[in-house]
Amino acid sequence: MSPAFQSLMSSDMAIDLGTANTLVYVKGMGIVVSEPSVVAVTRRERKVIAIGRQAREMMGKTHIDIEVIRPMRDGVIDDDEVAETMIRAFIRRVQHNRLMRPRIIVCVPSGVTKSEKRVIRDSAEYAGAREVHLVAEPMAAALGVQLPVKEPVGSMIVDIGGGTTEIAIISLSGIVTMHSIRTAGDEMDDGITQFIRRNFNLLIGERMAEWIKCMIGSAMPLEEEITLIAKGRDLVTGMPKAIEIRSEDVREALKEPVSQIVFAVKEALEKTPPELAADIRDRGIILTGGGSMLKRLDQRLRDETNLPVNLADDPLTCVVRGTGTILDDFETYQDLLLTNY
Ligand SMILES: Nc1ncnc2c1ncn2[C@@H]1O[C@H](COP(=O)(O)OP(=O)(O)OP(=O)(O)O)[C@@H](O)[C@H]1O
Ligand SMILES: [Mg+2]
Repeated sequence: MSPAFQSLMSSDMAIDLGTANTLVYVKGMGIVVSEPSVVAVTRRERKVIAIGRQAREMMGKTHIDIEVIRPMRDGVIDDDEVAETMIRAFIRRVQHNRLMRPRIIVCVPSGVTKSEKRVIRDSAEYAGAREVHLVAEPMAAALGVQLPVKEPVGSMIVDIGGGTTEIAIISLSGIVTMHSIRTAGDEMDDGITQFIRRNFNLLIGERMAEWIKCMIGSAMPLEEEITLIAKGRDLVTGMPKAIEIRSEDVREALKEPVSQIVFAVKEALEKTPPELAADIRDRGIILTGGGSMLKRLDQRLRDETNLPVNLADDPLTCVVRGTGTILDDFETYQDLLLTNY
C-alpha cells in the first residue's frame, strides 16, 4: 500500500504534550483536541474518572477518594501511569473507526529524559500508532510561526509554557543553542498564591491564582492599573473570604519568576555565536506558549534586550501547528525529528 494511501485511511496526528495543555492536530482536519493535561482518578483503585477539561473542573474541589493529577508537571512526566492513560485517551478520541493505524508525531519539552521518551513512545504505540516520532518543542514552535528553520539564518524562539521556558536558537534544521528553565506559568501562579497568603492571610486555589495572573498579571506597569476580587479561605478564621487585589500587587508577586525568565533570555543571548547573534539582532526574538501572553512581558523583554520582540499569533497553538507541519509534509521536514531515542 502506498504511503499516501496509508495516510488517507488513517488519522495521522501531531500531539503537543504540554505540562498545562495537550493539543492534537489531525491531518486534513486541523486541531481537534485542546484540553488541559489533567486526569482525575480514584485514590485507591486508580480508576480514571475524568480526563482533560472535565478533570480540571474538579481541581481543588474533590473529596478524599478522588485525586486530580497533572501527570506532566514541571515539563517532565511526573506520573508515568497516569501520563500514559492520558496520552492513550486523547489518541483514541480522534482515532476511532479508521482502518489504518496512524503515524503519530509527539512534541516534547527538550529536557525529557530517555526513559520519559520511552513512556511516550510506548503509550502512543499501545494506543495503536504504526509509527511514533518525537520533535523538540522549540523546533515545533519555530515551524509553527513559519521561521525559516532550514536556512542558514539564526532565529530565536522563547516558548513560555506552564512548566518550562525554552529558549532556543535554530539554524540549518538544528537547535544551535538551547536553554531550558523550570520557570514558566506554574511558577507565576505559585508566586501569586504565596504573595496573597503572606500579605492577605488568604489561601487561594491553583485555578484562582491562574485566573488572577491571566486577568491582571503583568511584567511592567500598565497604562491603567486594574483590580479584581480574589476569593479563598481566611487563614486566621478559616472562613471563606474575598479581597480586592491590584495589578500592582500581582506584578510584585510575579517579580521573581518574570526576572528569572528575562535573565535566562539574556544569558542565552550572551552565549550565542557571533554570526547568529547578528541575525538575531536583525530578526529579533519570537515569543510563543501561553505564558508569553502575560501582559507587557514582550515590552519588558524588548526593553531589557534592546532587540525586536514579537509575540506570535495564537501562542497556545504554535507548537501543535508546527508539529502538524511536519506531519503534512513529512518528506521535507522529517530531518527535524529527534533521532536518539
Ligand atoms: N493571558 C495569559 N496571561 C498569562 N499567562 C497565560 C495566559 N493565558 C494562558 N497563560 C498560561 O500559559 C500556560 C500554558 O501555556 P501552554 O499551553 O503553552 O503550556 P504547555 O505547552 O502546556 O506547557 P509546557 O510547554 O511547559 O510543557 C499556563 O501557565 C497558563 O496559565
Ligand atoms: Mg508547550
